[in-house]
Amino acid sequence: MCGIVGAISERNVVPMLLAGLQRLEYRGYDSSGLALAQRGEFSRVRVAGRVADLAAKAAGQSALAGLAHTRWATHGAPTELNAHPHLGGDSVLIVHNGIIENHAALRTELLAQGYQFTSETDSEVIAHLVHHYLERSNDLLSAVQATIGRLTGAFAIGVLSRDYPDTIICARRGSPLVLGLGFGEQFFASDIAALLPVTQRMIYLEEGDLAELHRGEVRIFNAAGEPVTRQARTVDVAADSADLGHYRHYMQKEIFEQPVAITNTLQRVIELGCQPALFGPTAEALFVAAPAIRIVACGSSYHAGLVARYWIEEWTGLPVSVDIASEYRYRKGREQDGTLIVAISQSGETADLLAAMRSARERGDVKVLAICNVPHSTLTRESDLLFLTQAGLEIGVASTKAFTTQLVALYVLAAALASSRKTLSAAAEREISESLHRLPVLVEEVLAMDGQLEEWAQELAHYHNALFLGRHTLFPIALEGALKLKEIAYIHAEGYAAGELKHGPLALVDEDMPVIVCAARDELLEKLVSNMREVEARSGKVFLLAEPGCESAHPGAHRVLTLPAASGPLAPVVMTLPLQMLSYHTACRKGTDVDKPRNLAKSVTVE
Ligand code: G6P
Repeated sequence: MCGIVGAISERNVVPMLLAGLQRLEYRGYDSSGLALAQRGEFSRVRVAGRVADLAAKAAGQSALAGLAHTRWATHGAPTELNAHPHLGGDSVLIVHNGIIENHAALRTELLAQGYQFTSETDSEVIAHLVHHYLERSNDLLSAVQATIGRLTGAFAIGVLSRDYPDTIICARRGSPLVLGLGFGEQFFASDIAALLPVTQRMIYLEEGDLAELHRGEVRIFNAAGEPVTRQARTVDVAADSADLGHYRHYMQKEIFEQPVAITNTLQRVIELGCQPALFGPTAEALFVAAPAIRIVACGSSYHAGLVARYWIEEWTGLPVSVDIASEYRYRKGREQDGTLIVAISQSGETADLLAAMRSARERGDVKVLAICNVPHSTLTRESDLLFLTQAGLEIGVASTKAFTTQLVALYVLAAALASSRKTLSAAAEREISESLHRLPVLVEEVLAMDGQLEEWAQELAHYHNALFLGRHTLFPIALEGALKLKEIAYIHAEGYAAGELKHGPLALVDEDMPVIVCAARDELLEKLVSNMREVEARSGKVFLLAEPGCESAHPGAHRVLTLPAASGPLAPVVMTLPLQMLSYHTACRKGTDVDKPRNLAKSVTVE
């Protein structure tokens, strides 16, 4: 994971590096550092802390070229010695995002040559290797190329040398890297968000690319070392979308942005209806021919996939399987030719998800449909069909607006599959499409219940455990509710399909076990009511989130919150919001670091 930024300019780059790094803290935030070069001066600043601490330590520093790093520890604790940049010999500084799998062998080799290691990281070998090759070639570009040739694993790196202050080099294999083009200045970063305050002209480096940045130009080389031209694009994202505004946390801001995020995601759907063309020109033929659907994803995106299974199966009759990407990639089964692989990812850079997609292609003649929030990410570039969610920049580590817009995209996908395959009546198709029009307003109405959820949170914050129950499409939402509470409030929570209660979790229920129940007005309601009675009979406290019309579910519930309206098949989208607000307020009550929960990172680019 980790985030890296680099800049070379005719002005002081330190403020830009720090601002860029701050926007990358979602990738890790346990230590940070800067490499700085200007007119014979060559230095680094590191802290075992966040970018704000680094900025304080670097106050007054200036440089015309530099690298920056924010870390999510993989090898070695988050100490200052393990923080990047790492020094190679006495003249090379590097920053690295990824994992070098052969670092142990390289370390042994470099130790034998007399190099001394000061960190426990896998990354330090890169610094010494560059130094080693530079001593022989006196050419920074070829030294970095030779170094990369020795590395196995995933990396995006930045390299700065005391003896080449007018050059910075960056390269990627397996980890994302983007160049930012300016006038008299050039930049690189793990993500466009870091560069938006300085430029909107970007080049997405391809797998295996290396770039040499000078103030006036950039030169790019492919994996074979040949000079190549990569297309520069003007990225249409506002830099201020990363600003907090009047909100206390990004997560809170992002929860409240959901009506807009959903409206933006639906923009073309409202114009065209739930049409296969929304997914690409070849979608209709592929949808008609698909014998099965396989969904792969991680984290919250996986929960979105679990919801989609109910919609697709019900509306198309197609067999749907949903897999955690990190498990799927190591399973051995073949895929039926024509199977549609639906890869869901907010970032489009999750390592396991990308590996799962590539593995699926080796198992049969499949097509990959990506549901993704980041244009030009690796996932979008490698997929055959694409639907871009329009959640905008999501900074809070816990997924909120990215998750609900994924649900919306998957709902559209299910309807478009049904439309291509003619499995629903025209009236049913119309009803499904039209239900989406009301969604932003429904979501807005649920957001107005924030105060009541804050009250619930005051109570929930006292518990150490919680159960979340739901049925049908609300079962995955129970999983998502439990994940949110774990992630940001550090309360142990489990989500269950309510029918499973008697198969184990009921043994945990007593007066110390809050049970959060999500109830839709559907044919399974009475069964859910029985489950709640079973909880209450064991002194468990039921916190009931119910659609109107679920009156039979109320007796005995410790707390009840009735949603403003029933939302039919869109219930999982609407029900997600109170669970997000509940976790958010519980975390605030407990005083945790809501946007940057301990030990986590937003973008998981290592296995
Ligand atoms: C991390 C994030 C989650 C996210 C998951 C998958 O764990 O904290 O919020 O759901 O990665 O990420 P993706 O970008 O592939 O959706």
